Amino acid sequence: MQYVIISGLKARLAASDRHALGRSGTVPDVTVYRGSILNPVAPGKFEYREDGGLAVGRGGRIVRCGSFGSVHSRGSGTVDLRGGIIIPGLVDTHVHLPQYGMVAMDGYELIDWLNNYTFKFESTFENPRVAGARARHFFTALAENGTTAACVYSTVHEEATRRAFGWAERSGLRVWMGKVMMDRNSPDSLREGTAESLAASERLCREWDGTGGGRLRYVFTPRFAPTCSMELMKGAGRLAKKYGAFIQTHLGENLGEVAWVRELFPNAASYTDVYRQAGLLTERTVMAHCIHMGDGEIRMMKAGRSGVAHCPNSNFFLRSGIFDAGRIIGAGLKVGLGSDVGAGTVLSIFREMADACMMSKVRSMAGRGPGRVLAPADAFYLATLGGAAVLGAERDIGSLAPGKFADFVVLDRRYVDPMGTEMPRSGEELVSQIVYRGSRRAVAATYVAGEPVSRGR
Ligand code: GUN
Ligand code: FE
Repeated sequence: MQYVIISGLKARLAASDRHALGRSGTVPDVTVYRGSILNPVAPGKFEYREDGGLAVGRGGRIVRCGSFGSVHSRGSGTVDLRGGIIIPGLVDTHVHLPQYGMVAMDGYELIDWLNNYTFKFESTFENPRVAGARARHFFTALAENGTTAACVYSTVHEEATRRAFGWAERSGLRVWMGKVMMDRNSPDSLREGTAESLAASERLCREWDGTGGGRLRYVFTPRFAPTCSMELMKGAGRLAKKYGAFIQTHLGENLGEVAWVRELFPNAASYTDVYRQAGLLTERTVMAHCIHMGDGEIRMMKAGRSGVAHCPNSNFFLRSGIFDAGRIIGAGLKVGLGSDVGAGTVLSIFREMADACMMSKVRSMAGRGPGRVLAPADAFYLATLGGAAVLGAERDIGSLAPGKFADFVVLDRRYVDPMGTEMPRSGEELVSQIVYRGSRRAVAATYVAGEPVSRGR
């Protein structure tokens, strides 16, 4: 039944193989994707073209984006996606590859959840064959969910991470990724020696950073302060600097975690100060959560130009706390959205957009300070350009601007709007429907640099 419903758009997509588009069998220099276009331009601001055209050059970069009439020219090929909505590829700034197989296991808050489920599950990645199969499944699912760029934690295992990079490369997606580092307060099966952890991470960085035509980046990944010695974190900071690589970790997620960090690092002024002392607050750093943060900590993050991965679905699931979006965004920090699978229950940035709005409403209903209620257009920005900025990639991806890569998602409007195309909708109405009703089912196709990486499901 599903096939019948979406066959119109699907069939046209199937016929749209770019190499078969040109007149007299030649490949056109420019291919124009024709459909409704929603394009973020600034926080809370977007452009809407009901009959739009996205013109993509042969190199996979966008050459024009606007109304179909103004974008189309003689000699360009056209892919007819009317009835579809074109949006930029979604950016997942925080996700754990090994946890996709254990999503939605309820019953605990953070530390008990890690000890009862997560660490046991991650231990199975010691077997590289298992790790490879799971990685393949994970990247396929990311693309099916409309995610074109993701910042990923692997496990502590070097070989598993190597295989994950191999599948990341084959997936065609843009992937920032690193092997988890932890040298204390972890089960024997996952705890590493400090020097061994640094050496394995450095090897992986040298092998993979900048490969896949620049689509793959290495991320030094000390899991979080409770499972890392200061020596390990400082070493990670040094290596990231040496290679110009990224850093990711967790910060201020859960009150028990914050209290534990205070005990473990009595000489630090705050949780954030632990990372500052370790040299981990850089402009290529992605900090997940940042819920329980003092003003001084936000200032430290700002001074380091580090970015925040807001993961509302995970924060609801683990009962971690209510992120103050207005305060963090208002302080001028870069903010994107993260699924944080497996504490997040769905590998979908659509769900995070909805939950980011919902969480800001919960905050305002609970009377927790002035709080800003996020509009759908705010969430749309965080999921695209905001996330791209967190990953230092806003010049290349995040919106449908000329010169950027053609990373985009084609949505079947029938899966976001129960009235299909029958009712005229404003751009604001469409964005709201996409934010609250978008899902993998609505994704008809996902493209990176003008090439399909998924034909949906
Ligand atoms: N803090 C340290 N490790 C993790 C993890 O795997 N998930 C979440 N949500 N928080 C963490
Ligand atoms: Fe996480």
